[in-house]
Amino acid sequence: MPDPSLLILAGDGIGPEVMAEVKRIIAWMGEKRGIRFSVSEDLVGGCAYDAHGVPLTDETMARAQAVDAVLLGAVGGPKYDSLDFSVKPERGLLRLRKEMDLYANLRPAQCFDALADFSSLKKEIIAGLDIVIVRELTGGVYFGEPRGIFPDNEGGRVGINTQRYTTNEIRRVARSAFELARRRRNKVCSMEKANVMESGILWREEVQWVHDNEYPDVELSHMYADNGAMQLVRWPRQFDVIVTDNLFGDILSDCAAMLTGSLGMLPSASLGAPMANGRPKALYEPVHGSAPDIAGQGKANPIACILSFAMALRYSFDLGDEATRIEKAVEKVLAQGVRTADLMGPEGGTPVSTSGMGDAILKALDASL
Ligand code: IPM
Ligand code: MG
Repeated sequence: MPDPSLLILAGDGIGPEVMAEVKRIIAWMGEKRGIRFSVSEDLVGGCAYDAHGVPLTDETMARAQAVDAVLLGAVGGPKYDSLDFSVKPERGLLRLRKEMDLYANLRPAQCFDALADFSSLKKEIIAGLDIVIVRELTGGVYFGEPRGIFPDNEGGRVGINTQRYTTNEIRRVARSAFELARRRRNKVCSMEKANVMESGILWREEVQWVHDNEYPDVELSHMYADNGAMQLVRWPRQFDVIVTDNLFGDILSDCAAMLTGSLGMLPSASLGAPMANGRPKALYEPVHGSAPDIAGQGKANPIACILSFAMALRYSFDLGDEATRIEKAVEKVLAQGVRTADLMGPEGGTPVSTSGMGDAILKALDASL
């Protein structure tokens, strides 16, 4: 059997810096655990635009389709703000999601004990938080047609986007959420705006259908997404798995991420249907963006990107034990007080650099053997 293949798309801003630490963890897995990957690298986002005039070339797209999993850093930056919409860095990411058909985006929001003080919420509300948002990623208003900016009848313009969901699109992501819940605390809360949107009514009915017909053992509730946002900051631990559409999921997952106190900590997995080898189509990326303000300074926190690799081990390669090993190593260094600049509290201290955090995690991994 050839080694499983990874395509690394480090992207822009802090992407390459945080990915450099992931590469060290990948190397460690090979040397110390005998778990080897065949790794290739390519461009996505602004750096691809600079090199090729597009944020993702057809060649890179084809490579992404051919590998076992894609690891992505971050895309975008102020340098590209004035580019035409069609070649903006984000379009590269959206093309990967769409063409790989990565319909289920898993965004865990977990509060590390050592960081509970960083949350904007009271510690007793946030401590022990462990929820996952399953965001539909290839449909809805992000991709619906018609879309565009057109002249209107009054000499002005009209901007149009279309929220659109089919039975199949809703059912498949609902199944992902129910499957996940069965491996956790067995609870799913589905969020939409069935009070104002027909697509929301369909969403609610189809999620209920999947529940009643296929997952009656899982506890299901429904919530309007605005109430969901409110409940997330009021009492987030009431949730286990939240399933929601593309746009609500974008917003609610940022909210959930910030609850944990540090956006720099959270990984994500975007999964599609199983490939011929049984592995799901998959792309793993940190939830944080390219952070152009600190790019190139060695200040970025590599933990979200490292935990994204851990998710790859768990969801693509059935190496849950090795994923847990990485997660435990991260918890350990945080408990020891190792902090990148984004994790410095009012008590101060000296932050470690991006690679300093990588060093500490590798040391903790060594100690785990
Ligand atoms: C995210 C981001 C993206 C999105 C952007 C960069 C296109 O905000 O992954 O949450 O809106 O999906
Ligand atoms: Mg977002």
